[in-house]
Amino acid sequence: MAKLGYPFTLGVASGEPAPDGVILWTRLAPVPFDPDPARPGGMPARSVPVRWQVAEDPAFARIVRQGTASAAQAWAHSVHVRVDGLRPATDYHYRFSVGAPFGAETSPAGRTRTAPARDSTAPVRFAVASCQRYEHGHFTAHRHLAAELPDVVFHLGDSIYEYGRPAVPKPGRYVRPLEPPERECLSLHDYRNRHARYRTDADLRAAHAAAPWVVTWDDHEVDDNYAGVRPADGSPPAAFLRRRTAAYRAYYEHMPLRVRPVGEELRMYRWRPYGGVADFLVLDARQYRAGADMLGPAQERWLLDRLRSARARWKVLVQPLFFARRAFPGPLGPTFSTDAWDGFAEQRARVLAAAGERLVVLSGDVHNNWACDLDDDAGRPVGVEFVGTAITSAPSGAGGGPILAANPHIKFFDDHRGYLAGTAGPAGFEIAYRVVDFVDRPSGQLGTAARFGVREDRVVRLDV
Ligand SMILES: [Fe+2]
Repeated sequence: MAKLGYPFTLGVASGEPAPDGVILWTRLAPVPFDPDPARPGGMPARSVPVRWQVAEDPAFARIVRQGTASAAQAWAHSVHVRVDGLRPATDYHYRFSVGAPFGAETSPAGRTRTAPARDSTAPVRFAVASCQRYEHGHFTAHRHLAAELPDVVFHLGDSIYEYGRPAVPKPGRYVRPLEPPERECLSLHDYRNRHARYRTDADLRAAHAAAPWVVTWDDHEVDDNYAGVRPADGSPPAAFLRRRTAAYRAYYEHMPLRVRPVGEELRMYRWRPYGGVADFLVLDARQYRAGADMLGPAQERWLLDRLRSARARWKVLVQPLFFARRAFPGPLGPTFSTDAWDGFAEQRARVLAAAGERLVVLSGDVHNNWACDLDDDAGRPVGVEFVGTAITSAPSGAGGGPILAANPHIKFFDDHRGYLAGTAGPAGFEIAYRVVDFVDRPSGQLGTAARFGVREDRVVRLDV
């Protein structure tokens, strides 16, 4: 067989940090968006052994774990290696290598970090990213995020967008091309090639290689504003469920997840503890949605139990959607987004009641920055919400001023693209709103729009 090209075009990643281990990820794709659905990534139709190594040092002189995984065509030659036996709160370095039919090739090295031990009170440094629409801009924010070497990165969804090239792109909103033929994703092949398009971006690869990621999804990993098995356009659920299953599979194939899809389901909601400091509760706001129920009964039971029994200083929801009440003033009275938590107010009230205090909600979706106080139905403070802006996706265009005026519990608005840099410790919780000055061309400079802390379950503005 002819020698294949370099296979690590999509980079490496790690995720799901536990005190004793992480998941390592890569995918072999010498032709990242091969047009032939029978050859995803330009790979032959057979399994390929992939060697992996974990070391204590970036030169790989002190290797502590190694082995061989099988990259199978059924999973688009992705590998998900479950590494255990590591020490808590420790940096590690990892890489992959392959032999025939590639000759001998080694991947770039990634840096990862295990979670702290259960009794640790060491602060955790994290970053929060969301909404990275490839065609809308350059992933400069991800390059700056990578340089911070956070302990962990939370991604809140819209890691891809399913759209094709619009017939008439709006000015400034189509600054780089999707993979050919630039059409909307419908099939497994389409979603695989769209994820691959994103990972050909060097800044996104750098962010994945810099720290372990804990990911959840929003709607655009499948289809705009879908709910459970129902697409927003009203087309039949049976056909949509086939599309959703393909999209979930491609998502798994490109993310460092601990669990794989089972039938039509990919279990995303989960608990990621960081010692005694933070219980990160990762939510799935899409898969089980029906009527006035965003989470589905099983996920809601799990969440309320976790909130009531949480022992760490902070209870942190890692989820895509604007959580606080947000009234949009209008001539006929206020209106609300029914796709966000305002469309699920009774469920939101149950979440707030179960949390009681020390709740921090991390959100994305709306493509600009916000900070909010959260009260229960009796007006008592329960916690705060930090809404992080998009990496690139363009905002709707509505300004923040009228919304701030109509919603006194919303304290901050900023209209840049960027990410959040946070620290959670036994004494405090702080968020810096990192922003870039432009995304329509490379090399945007990084700044900090504002910093907020939490005092007695209220946001407080800090000096930058
Ligand atoms: Fe988005």
